[in-house]
Amino acid sequence: MDDVNLQGKDFLKLLDFSREEILHLLDLATDFKLKKKNGVPHEELKGKNVALIFEKTSTRTRCAFEVAAHDLGMGTTYLDPQGSQIGKKESIADTARVLAGMYDGIEYRGFGQDIVETLAEYSKVPVWNGLTNEFHPTQMLADLLTIQERFGYLKDIRLCYLGDARYNMGNSLMVACAKMGMHFTACTNKKYFPDGKLVVQCEEIAKESGASLAFTEDVAEGTHGADVIYTDVWVSMGEPDAVWEERIRDLTPYRVTREIMDNAGEKAIFLHCLPSFHDLNTSIGREIKGKYGLNEMEVTDEVFESERSLVFEEAENRMHTIKAVMYATLKQQ
Ligand code: CP
Ligand code: NVA
Repeated sequence: MDDVNLQGKDFLKLLDFSREEILHLLDLATDFKLKKKNGVPHEELKGKNVALIFEKTSTRTRCAFEVAAHDLGMGTTYLDPQGSQIGKKESIADTARVLAGMYDGIEYRGFGQDIVETLAEYSKVPVWNGLTNEFHPTQMLADLLTIQERFGYLKDIRLCYLGDARYNMGNSLMVACAKMGMHFTACTNKKYFPDGKLVVQCEEIAKESGASLAFTEDVAEGTHGADVIYTDVWVSMGEPDAVWEERIRDLTPYRVTREIMDNAGEKAIFLHCLPSFHDLNTSIGREIKGKYGLNEMEVTDEVFESERSLVFEEAENRMHTIKAVMYATLKQQ
């Protein structure tokens, strides 16, 4: 584990990393978390600067990158969804070469995975994926850390994902489970099962790691005995409003309820990448209530607020794990 060296490497998707490298990043994050809690300064990357490109909005990912960078002694520049030339007046390839001349690392949140891959191809400094339509790898590290903290291990953990499993969260959790030897179940309407090609890739990885993958439309079967019940919003950023009606119809049977948590393992926890529609305290939540009469969507407020819900610990872990990624890829050996 000690000879893991990620210096200069991009962090674009978990598929590019070995189990040992992922465990190394989790160890680093644990170490940084302890330092932060004990007030031990760790400005290990003093003098460096990072650019944070957000073509979609964010609370956790942006704040995690900013706080982590500042704790490590680095400067940050936030480029918001409107405030730069990216994609409109300047290509990704040109943007990569401009920013790499000024910064030591570049975070990108946006649309297709091909965009962040192109950015990395043209950048001579590390590029970190802060969410694309296909993958959300920094979220995976926070989720794995949260699971490891609670259960003490990852191998053989049974994780059941309910909802839209074809998008960034479902895809990424399937990859994370395959890599770490965990048991992944996508429990949802079959229209929302993960991408077939990615399933084949993950099945290959699972043969090595001892992981398993399952896909079911049956809620009682899919959630039975699970250690982790996971869900995400039914409509992701960048998707048209027109899909709401169909999503509500297809995915309401997969809302995380108390019955689901009771059917899961005795020590089961609830995770969600957030933000979440679990009450009417958001403008979109109220709009959906007005149109479709729903008080809560992918998870009930009861489960979200219950002791089994570790969503805020998970959100905090975004910062510690993102710090580990920046440190591992930017530090001098
Ligand atoms: N979970 C997550 O990525 O949250 P943000 O969209 O707030 O960054
Ligand atoms: N699937 C969600 C995840 C948000 C963190 C989205 O892409 O909007």
